[in-house]
Amino acid sequence: MLSASDNDLICRSGPQTPGGRLMRHYWVPVALTSELPGPDCDPLRVRLLGEDLVAFRDSAGRPGLVSAFCPHRGAALFFGRNEEGGLRCAYHGWKFDVAGRCLDLPNESDNPALRERIRLAAYPVVERAHLLWAYMGPEREPPPFPGFQFWDLPDEQISVVKIYQEQNWLQGLEGVIDPSHAPFLHSAAPAARRDQAVSALRTERIADYYWATSGWHYQVEADDHRVLIAASRPVSSEQEFWRMNVFLLPFYAMGPVRSGADPVANVNARIPIDDEHHFIYSITWHPLRALTDDEKRFGEEVYGVTLGFEKGDPRHPGSEWMTKANRANDYLLDRQAQRTTSYTGIPVVIAQDQAMTEGMGPIADRSGEHLVKADLGIASARRVFLRAAKALRDQGTPPPGVFDTSGYGVRAPSKLMPAGVQDWVGALSEFYRCRPGINPPQP
Ligand code: FES
Ligand SMILES: [Fe+2]
Repeated sequence: MLSASDNDLICRSGPQTPGGRLMRHYWVPVALTSELPGPDCDPLRVRLLGEDLVAFRDSAGRPGLVSAFCPHRGAALFFGRNEEGGLRCAYHGWKFDVAGRCLDLPNESDNPALRERIRLAAYPVVERAHLLWAYMGPEREPPPFPGFQFWDLPDEQISVVKIYQEQNWLQGLEGVIDPSHAPFLHSAAPAARRDQAVSALRTERIADYYWATSGWHYQVEADDHRVLIAASRPVSSEQEFWRMNVFLLPFYAMGPVRSGADPVANVNARIPIDDEHHFIYSITWHPLRALTDDEKRFGEEVYGVTLGFEKGDPRHPGSEWMTKANRANDYLLDRQAQRTTSYTGIPVVIAQDQAMTEGMGPIADRSGEHLVKADLGIASARRVFLRAAKALRDQGTPPPGVFDTSGYGVRAPSKLMPAGVQDWVGALSEFYRCRPGINPPQP
């Protein structure tokens, strides 16, 4: 459980909150690059960490992320004209470039000193891995980029799925580092469990052992910005099945993927839109080759993208990324399917998760929880976040993993190991550590 004040601290991401200030020290995914398809394209309404912003691409193709509100009298720059090297406010024509410099003050044209002085809040943006990333933190020079293995890979080796969530970012993230839910939530109905017919997770990428509902042993290894979470289980007198989940400050989580020869890897970024909504960016990559159409399609099915998206409501920025299986329709729950084929009766894997975690309410109350051994990793991830946020708030301690990003070069394996492994962190290290361009052996 968490006290109400710690729960508040960890869930709130606005600019003045300890958790939000922590997140702002790291590079943050803002949008898909495809949402700004070319020079002078339509501006994009963005709400990010509780801030209202506009993203646009100037005539030279440079991306920018600026305040949503014009510094003249606060009009919404989303409605502006994106033309000739900047975004021009539709109200009185003030114009700004991607760095927030004022280029034109047509209703005060005899005042160049004011034009020099006026600034629109703007954040540095880079494009990597099909995503726009912003640095919203306090350093004059942005810190190094995140140390993920995908960062330097060609686009065809990476695929990103984006969807909208009607819940606080943390309860969504906690589902990704929750090792004991999948054999229930994502499995077939007991009557059909032998077939596991409906779960998209039932592929060769996760061994059948994955589906055992009991008999697991849970262990955690945490440092200042990373939590490795292991679940292991004997499968014979000689062998154990191991699966790993990973948490990385401030908002990344990994669930176990393929145990075979193919090291496709994945990380979930759970990015707060505001305290009651977030985006999932599910980033899948292969370190050595282009992803196949099947591999991309798998992600789209798991996240319900193949069903299509709702229309979206401009009053809720990002809601156009809400998939067709959502809270308003009970995630397409089918009680007959629940009786016969599927544990939940909900047809999309991520919607099964959403039904549980959105069902907790927009911000889960953790004060009445009863955590068990299977929740070790969740408790540890909360401690890591709270420790970093409080150290920043109380002592001004720079958050860990911002300047030394080497801890991010990991993935979450699942693996058969000889029975009796003691040093599991060492024994599994060759499978969870990534080095750029190098494919860990996977017998
Ligand atoms: S409010 Fe934008 S130019 Fe006046
Ligand atoms: Fe799940």
